[in-house]
Amino acid sequence: MDFQIKNSAIITKQKTECLVVSIDSGKKQSDFVKDIDKSTNGLVSQLIKSGDISCELGKTTLLYSNNNLKQKLLFVGCGKAKTFGSVQAKTVIKAVIKELLAKKVKNIAWDLLAFNEVTSLEIAKQLPQIISDITYRFDDFKTTKDPVPSLTKVTLLIHDKEALSALTDHLLQGQIIANAITATKTIANMPPNICNAKYLAEQGKQLGKLHSSLKVTCLGESELAKLNMNAYLAVGRGSQNESIMTIIEYNGAKDKKAQPYVLVGKGLTFDSGGISIKPSAGMDEMKYDMCGAATVYGVMQAMAELKLPINVVGVMAGCENMPDGNSYRPGDILTTMSGTTVEVINTDAEGRLVLCDALTYVERYNPKTVIDIATLTGACIVALGHHYTGVMGNNDKLIAQLISSSNKAGDKAWVLPIDSEFQEQIKSTCADIVNAGGRDGGTITAACFLSRFTEKYQWAHLDIAGTAWRSGGKKGATGRPVAMLIQYLLDQ
Ligand code: BES
Ligand code: MN
Ligand code: ZN
Repeated sequence: MDFQIKNSAIITKQKTECLVVSIDSGKKQSDFVKDIDKSTNGLVSQLIKSGDISCELGKTTLLYSNNNLKQKLLFVGCGKAKTFGSVQAKTVIKAVIKELLAKKVKNIAWDLLAFNEVTSLEIAKQLPQIISDITYRFDDFKTTKDPVPSLTKVTLLIHDKEALSALTDHLLQGQIIANAITATKTIANMPPNICNAKYLAEQGKQLGKLHSSLKVTCLGESELAKLNMNAYLAVGRGSQNESIMTIIEYNGAKDKKAQPYVLVGKGLTFDSGGISIKPSAGMDEMKYDMCGAATVYGVMQAMAELKLPINVVGVMAGCENMPDGNSYRPGDILTTMSGTTVEVINTDAEGRLVLCDALTYVERYNPKTVIDIATLTGACIVALGHHYTGVMGNNDKLIAQLISSSNKAGDKAWVLPIDSEFQEQIKSTCADIVNAGGRDGGTITAACFLSRFTEKYQWAHLDIAGTAWRSGGKKGATGRPVAMLIQYLLDQ
């Protein structure tokens, strides 16, 4: 797919299959609309007046070419200019792309003149992401693949040369983010008989080969044992697949020793629940329990492509939770890498056990901030549904930054409190803490557990149980919260 930005005042002269024209609900229309109106002898303004071309947000009207105008015209309503922002821009782009794909249009030119500068930049950044989201298919395992409709060329028209370089930057950023989200989705969608911890490690190594700015290290069970990562190892003990922690280091800062931003992704390639086994309905979806690790992969790919002047360390904590004669059990007491002891109440609360050791491990990087990303609790879906990622942490500034990045990226997130009151729920009678704090406030008590292992740095926890994938007829990974995290790193 080819994107282009062109500085051109005369829309009707564009050699393209279809012109996309934005319509404002106010009386004033853009010069492009006036231009088209002339070429159609006033037809367009008449149709706007009669309401046959709708100005309503996201409503599209397609007109076919006539004698005066060789191109098709796709009008899209933008509502009131005053209330038009990034949310509205997304609605408009989605409506346009869906209509173009339905009508099998391949080549378009779109006027950005109608939008103010900020909104044009937003559109340039969102357009590649929305196109790749709508056209994404996971059909690697289908013997007959449905044809995927696609656009081949998109030209964005502007009338102000000065906007060109900023727009080009945003378009490129948008393409890199779109590719990162696609990479995350594809790894996350892989079935658990193929995607195990070793597969994650191989993906990481391959990414490292593509970019000299990335260094990839894999720690297998013997190395994890030497590090005393006993909680992590306990979770994988019932599985035939080796637990492997894959570390991707991106060096982009001038100062090689600059404190890195660290991302730690939960990489349970399958979570059966272990001895505290899950009910069978919907258990297939526990292949998505590695979406945190897949997110880390996508973000690291984007770091290498964006070439940001910062250092970032991404950890994919690969592991599988299975019932077996060798499995860890409820009642076991584990000594974590940090020395804190944990009484296992429920082997299905395995994510926090893998993460706690990975979070202790990353202390060695002297991190600027640490963000873990995990499909950690079903309770997060009860609290925030499938719309918002849950955000918790030990530093208000970091949390505020993450929420701001999430808003900018249109990748929603909401803060949950982790006051000391909740810590009561993870008290143990025979060890330092238990691994499951009961039903009430389950997302928060899981974060409380992690907070015991993150006291040495600024830390935030993203619970993506509700947002990382969709169930039912549209079952598949969403690629969230890749956009939010890339935005956070861009903002640094
Ligand atoms: N991976 C699950 C969380 C999950 C469940 C995410 C369903 C999305 C959908 C996690 O390992 C888990 O099983 N958590 C338990 C914790 C409980 C035992 C304290 C849960 O949420 O039930
Ligand atoms: Mn579990
Ligand atoms: Zn899990």
